[in-house]
Amino acid sequence: MLKKNIEEALNKQLNAELYSAYLYLAMAAYCETIPMKGFAKWLRVQSEEEKAHGMKFFDYIIEAGGTVKLARIEAPKTEWKSVGDVFEQVYEHEKKVTGLINGIMDLAVKEKDYATQNFLGWFVKEQVEEEANASEILAQIRMIKDVVGHMFWLDHELGKRG
Ligand SMILES: [Fe+2]
Ligand SMILES: [Fe+2]
Repeated sequence: MLKKNIEEALNKQLNAELYSAYLYLAMAAYCETIPMKGFAKWLRVQSEEEKAHGMKFFDYIIEAGGTVKLARIEAPKTEWKSVGDVFEQVYEHEKKVTGLINGIMDLAVKEKDYATQNFLGWFVKEQVEEEANASEILAQIRMIKDVVGHMFWLDHELGKRG
């Protein structure tokens, strides 16, 4: 049985993961319109991954005997200045999510909730990958700067994400 404060933290993270899905979908929509279809494809896939992260929390809360409480999902913004601007925010957002996961881990340690610590382990590892992916793409965008041809190459590469 989940302690109430743990259940609350897990539900909050379920919402945060769904917000991430929503944010990346909004970024995908922006990239579709500029148009940078490869960046858009990458972000669409990323959005699906975030939905899957949310569902991991959904399933764990139920399995651990808690109650899923779906809350309102905040609306993300709709405009960015460039794909560079988008990926700066992707990277910042992933660092913020890492902080949220670490915060729940701190709580699970404090409450001696070993099952939740074990569940969160997957996310600790996943966040290392998420930050690395975002920072790598951001570094590539910064290197390319305004060389249009290179930007289309990167767009093509990112569009390969299945
Ligand atoms: Fe996530
Ligand atoms: Fe993420």
